[in-house]
Amino acid sequence: MSSEESEEEDAIEELPEKIVPPPKFRKSVSAEAFGLYNKKGYFSARIVDKKDETKLKIKERLLKSFMFNSLSSEDLEIVVDAMEEKRYKKNDTVIEQNADGDELFVVGEGKLHCYRTEKGETNLVKTYSPGDYFGELALLYNAPRAATIKAIKDNVVLYSLDRLTFNHIVKDSAMKRREKYEEILKLVRILDSLDNNERMKLIDSISEMRFKQGEYIIRQGEPGNNFFFIMEGRAVAKKLNADQQEIKVMDYKAGDYFGEISLIKNQPRAANVIAETDLVALFLERQMFNRVLGPLKEILKRNMKSYVHFEQQEDNL
Ligand code: CMP
Ligand code: CMP
Repeated sequence: MSSEESEEEDAIEELPEKIVPPPKFRKSVSAEAFGLYNKKGYFSARIVDKKDETKLKIKERLLKSFMFNSLSSEDLEIVVDAMEEKRYKKNDTVIEQNADGDELFVVGEGKLHCYRTEKGETNLVKTYSPGDYFGELALLYNAPRAATIKAIKDNVVLYSLDRLTFNHIVKDSAMKRREKYEEILKLVRILDSLDNNERMKLIDSISEMRFKQGEYIIRQGEPGNNFFFIMEGRAVAKKLNADQQEIKVMDYKAGDYFGEISLIKNQPRAANVIAETDLVALFLERQMFNRVLGPLKEILKRNMKSYVHFEQQEDNL
């Protein structure tokens, strides 16, 4: 067992017992919550009593989760108040594929497995750890549960969010964001092999960054923390030769990606990347790159081989 895992298990022992009082309600309205999918108006968000310590823990988890971390602080409070702590033992089923679903879960403590059955074959598709969320698809798309999720350890703590609060506070902004980025990411060929769920997780993890013409997006030799896709505009990659002159090694347009080498190989940036026009990029931070684009690493590594070709060209200059 890793030290991280044993620390996690120590933390579990200290958590309070299950607290599930009858829900109270409060009036609330969210500015963001009603556009396309709901009529603007009031709704009563439930309040599930819990210790301040539990509230803090939930907030900490939500702020790490891209589904929730763009909420206003007021909306975040409403979500935290509405969440209910639920505990599971090893092998308990939290969600059953094809069942109806009315709640989304954020993992507080422990580990779970997600299995999907297709054409009679069941496969393990994902492992969930603290800070991850699941069960959002049934709520976003009003569909039956798309997979089965089971606790793989004792003392799994989940925070469940009811459909009503999700619909009013989280769903609309999550949907708008997904629709926008789904279109954009269709341009990115490298992502073709991701399944729908992986693509959605990616969308929930990316952020936008803007650069002016001539601005350096990446500087050779610096440590690398982000992986980029170009949404709009053009860029060039240039490598420094022995005389510190920049030699162009790559052109980029919308749909292209760069910045993967230092993340995959854990090394400083191997080239400069400069905006040739004003540019809008999407980026993933290192941790999310590893988590969300794990399935693509082999393709990225294979594609990296084409860079050697440029390096050889440069050596011959
Ligand atoms: P939902 O369909 O509500 O319930 C099952 C959950 O499993 C689903 O939401 C996703 O959060 C999660 N999940 C993880 N991987 C997959 C996958 N490959 N297909 C479908 N659902 C998945
Ligand atoms: P990284 O090293 O993280 O940051 C600079 C990026 O430039 C690099 O990842 C690649 O995505 C990109 N690049 C394009 N051409 C080359 C090349 N010939 N050598 C190294 N990096 C290149």
